[in-house]
Amino acid sequence: MRTHTCGELRLADVGKDVVLTGWVYSVREHGRITFIDLWDRYGITQVVLSEDLVDLIKPKGGLHKGSVLKVEGRVVKRTTPNPELPTGEIEVNCSSVEVLSSSDPLPMEPGDPNNTDLTRLKYRYLDLRRPEMMRNIILRSKITNHIREFLYSQGFIEVETPVLGKSTPEGARDYLVPSRVHKGKFYALPQSPQLFKQLLMVSGVDRYFQIARCFRDEDLRADRQPEFTQVDLEMSFVDEEDIMSVVEGMLAHVFDKVLGVKLSRPFPRMTYDEAVNTYGTDKPDLRYGLPLRDLTQVFRESGFKILSEAPVVKGIVVGPSEGTPEVEYSRKKVDELVSRVSRFGVKGIVYLKLKDEGLIGPMSKHVKDVEDRLIETLHMKPGDSLFIIGGEPSVVNWGLGEVRKILAGELSLTSPDEFRFVWVVDFPMFEYDEEEQRYKTVHHPFTQPKIRSFDELKDKENCKARAYDIVLNGEEVGGGSIRIHDREMQKRVFDEIGISEEQARDKFGFLLEAFRYGVPPHGGIALGLDRLVAIMLKIPGYDIREVIAFPKTKMAEDPLTGAPSEVSEEQLKELGIRIDEES
Ligand code: AMO
Repeated sequence: MRTHTCGELRLADVGKDVVLTGWVYSVREHGRITFIDLWDRYGITQVVLSEDLVDLIKPKGGLHKGSVLKVEGRVVKRTTPNPELPTGEIEVNCSSVEVLSSSDPLPMEPGDPNNTDLTRLKYRYLDLRRPEMMRNIILRSKITNHIREFLYSQGFIEVETPVLGKSTPEGARDYLVPSRVHKGKFYALPQSPQLFKQLLMVSGVDRYFQIARCFRDEDLRADRQPEFTQVDLEMSFVDEEDIMSVVEGMLAHVFDKVLGVKLSRPFPRMTYDEAVNTYGTDKPDLRYGLPLRDLTQVFRESGFKILSEAPVVKGIVVGPSEGTPEVEYSRKKVDELVSRVSRFGVKGIVYLKLKDEGLIGPMSKHVKDVEDRLIETLHMKPGDSLFIIGGEPSVVNWGLGEVRKILAGELSLTSPDEFRFVWVVDFPMFEYDEEEQRYKTVHHPFTQPKIRSFDELKDKENCKARAYDIVLNGEEVGGGSIRIHDREMQKRVFDEIGISEEQARDKFGFLLEAFRYGVPPHGGIALGLDRLVAIMLKIPGYDIREVIAFPKTKMAEDPLTGAPSEVSEEQLKELGIRIDEES
């Protein structure tokens, strides 16, 4: 239908007779001639229509923004080139024009800053006409293409696994699908292909991957969608290093091919304990420093009871000695900071600033007795600020970790152009769930504990797992583990988290049975593709909705289709479901 796209023609094409198709992006009527910017996903080309052609298409809506035209004409040099456009040196002088489809007035102009998120999602197909959005989906496609290319080159096989599966405990809440044939029974949409990829290892697939859609009914945030995509891998006869090396190779390949960025390998590794103790988080952003400094001993001798009696005291220094700009916190600003980190159990922050006359701050008189030691221990320079928290280790670490993040944001210490990967390894095996009053596995219950004897499983607070996360710029972009391939060990782990033999048989019986017939040692990982793409494309706030063609709102709705929606009485009846209006 067309000879060229709207992004293709250049000065060298002057004189050619061409046929273009595209959408009316903008129209400028200049007396007897009319200029139309004709758009398609490849670009914009200016086409010029004479009065008689305009008269022909105007009654058919051909000049409406969004109408689809086919034009024929000759490429000519523009007298006033537009340096903003790659096609800006030429235009097409039209000899004929046809309206392929006329557009009603657009309900929203793509790119209008007044468009709300809701409008953008309701008319997502129009929003995708914005060059930025089109770029995002094109680059996402490029990224998945290069991921496949690399994994195929390494001998991986792509295998699809079921979407209608079995609901299993642990993890997030399942999305359920009622069965019509088996009334009262439900399928669950997969939270990940975890169990199937392990079964594929039993089959001997050896190197599996899948770009898999996963579903989790959990509270949504900028980095979470109810359905999202994983680059899911599993490998047999491997240890942690083998998996990390494949993932690093894959990321290096993709960053190079898509962004021209050369990643240096191997990526740094850090234990979970190190990450939490030094950065106050299990996903440290290494684009900036501001480490947590242990001040427990310094305060032991102090008369300032809040800190001298606290199990742990730590501080963060910001300012000249950390190579950052200075900050100035008033009492009010400190209070605001406390309220921003109170969800970690933080009740107060001691703020001090080193001036010529010494440490100044709302509580400075309480720390006079350790002032010199503080300055010396931390090598503080005039202009440095110090934020101190005392309390239980988890409150201090995670609370200060958040302070660190807030300060980095305030001082703009991060650049989206920088990509800093880190592996966080040796995660705890178990964590206590206050709500359910029981221990759960941090990763999933198929993760191998890092133990020499089963007794070590009893020490739940210290037992580590052969689990690892890959973190990029402070975001968890992937996680995985070496799996349990020993039936006895699997049983013991289930025991420890209160999954009885009967429950285990009921929920994971198929896996346990498969494990009776020869299971290779294996392990794997899943990368969150949406997060990875959002970071690679430098999306502000790493909001993954910007890199998903049809995402859902924070309320898990799709304003475009109206999902979720009510269904007819007949459909419910067929499924044997009655809606309880009360609940
Ligand atoms: P995990 O639950 O850590 O591991 O998930 C892997 C990665 O998926 C991404 N992710 C999400 N992205 C967007 N929206 C969500 N709601 C969401 N939830 C998770 C994150 C995360 O690191 N089966 C295991 C992997 C394995 O052990 O091989 C799993 O699913 O980037």
